[in-house]
Amino acid sequence: MKPSETVLVLDFGSQYTQLIARRIREMKVYSEIHPFDIPIDKVREMNPKAIVLSGGPSSVYGEAAPHSSREIFELGVPVLGICYGMQLTAYQLGGGVEPASEREFGGAEIEITKKSVLFEGTPTRQTVWASHGDRILAAPPGFEVIAVSDNAPFTAWEHRERRCYGIQFHPEVTHTENGQQILRNFLFEVAGCTASWDLGNFRRQKVEEIRAAVGEKKVIAAVSGGVDSSVAALLVSEAIGDQLTAIFVDNGVLRKDEAIQVMSKLSEGLGLHIVAIDARQRFWNELAGVEDPELKRKKIGYEFIAVFDEEAKKIEGAEFLVQGTLYPDVIESVSVKGPSAVIKTHHNVGGLPEKMGLKLIEPLRELFKDEVRRLGEELGLEREFVWRHPFPGPGLAVRILGEVTPQRVEVLQNADAIFIEEVRKAGLYDEISQGFVVLLPIHSVGVMGDERTYENVCAIRAVTTTDFMTADWYRFPYEVLDRISRRIVNEVRGINRVVYDVSSKPPSTIEWE
Ligand code: XMP
Repeated sequence: MKPSETVLVLDFGSQYTQLIARRIREMKVYSEIHPFDIPIDKVREMNPKAIVLSGGPSSVYGEAAPHSSREIFELGVPVLGICYGMQLTAYQLGGGVEPASEREFGGAEIEITKKSVLFEGTPTRQTVWASHGDRILAAPPGFEVIAVSDNAPFTAWEHRERRCYGIQFHPEVTHTENGQQILRNFLFEVAGCTASWDLGNFRRQKVEEIRAAVGEKKVIAAVSGGVDSSVAALLVSEAIGDQLTAIFVDNGVLRKDEAIQVMSKLSEGLGLHIVAIDARQRFWNELAGVEDPELKRKKIGYEFIAVFDEEAKKIEGAEFLVQGTLYPDVIESVSVKGPSAVIKTHHNVGGLPEKMGLKLIEPLRELFKDEVRRLGEELGLEREFVWRHPFPGPGLAVRILGEVTPQRVEVLQNADAIFIEEVRKAGLYDEISQGFVVLLPIHSVGVMGDERTYENVCAIRAVTTTDFMTADWYRFPYEVLDRISRRIVNEVRGINRVVYDVSSKPPSTIEWE
């Protein structure tokens, strides 16, 4: 079931394409991203309320330049072309565009030269975030310039009858002062959208959809303790109650007390029908003697499938499997997914549903991560939980350098718990994108009281990042580092030295293995 109003964002490869869709959704209008070459019949079928043409790195004259169907402009649907999208409008509707030798990129001051509904409620002069390669030389017939800048005489234009607009800057980024208002004007004043989509509606609709799809059948879900799988399971549980069995596997390389916390939160707290499997020893057996990081990943992946498969078979008549797939995973666009898509598949072992012959339920397929977090809060998860730092599938196994043993897991769990506690106490948790402790395969000499010690070294890792593809090491206040180090050395038996990792990504990665 689709929401009644959809705004279609056509992707031409801009790094901001996802952001456009998110901004539109923040204004309570449902928005979907599709590749620029989506067949025109499909567009008609979608019956969009408006179409946004994204920016992109190409020149419209480039050899493999992305061109959408010209008929987009003949549907009678309002169109907003952003940067490349505006240049394509010029190219396809008979304006003039020429390739420029240099890209204009960054902050620019624009001046509104003609009253237009697009700039309603914004000042005559304003700062925007510009980014374009080609230069527009002339407007297509019927288009009128509504704003200019020093570098771009065609900064914005409109064709009132066609309800077609173009801007040479990015309204979706916060550097564009009035970007929100401009998008708002386009959605509500030009396209007549009604702001009727929100997570509450989404939740009600999904619950009905799931009930209709599942009927009386049984459903299973794998819950990892992460946000996506928890929210997906809770939503399905709201729809079909105990017809759902969630399975939580303790693989022996989770954070300290994770198993207890997951069970108390999801089962006792929120009534999820969940079974916890203590498979720690099985995973430890598999990991014994293994030092190679990739082999650790593989072993954990395969063992997980084996354990889960065994447990799932015990649930007779199960026909569906819940998976916490998110919208960025399904957008058919390389620019949106970016190289991170490749990293993910290489990080995780897929193939579970195929192997088990189950039909998939993916209730979060339409949502962005921040929407999943908000939905999680609506479903009763604590704020602290839904905003937790990401945790890798192979868990502490890739943070224990060298061999993983139950003793080393315990040492790391204790150190990591102290680290997280101190970071939270200092009020820095939300500033850091991901932070953890790594146990090194090195012993160093220390002195405790009168005794000489010869124990493990651990490293603290904390980074800030938006996309996890690049990351900067976090500048901790010295006092906080000092507290963390003192507490770990005093309280964790087995560690006598703490070091701090000051490398960024690239060339280092976030995890050490
Ligand atoms: P790196 O270390 O490659 O990590 O800079 C980028 C992000 O991915 C997470 N990561 C993983 N996630 N399975 C996962 O599910 C893995 O094998 C894995 N390895 C790294 C890492 O924690 C960071 O958030």
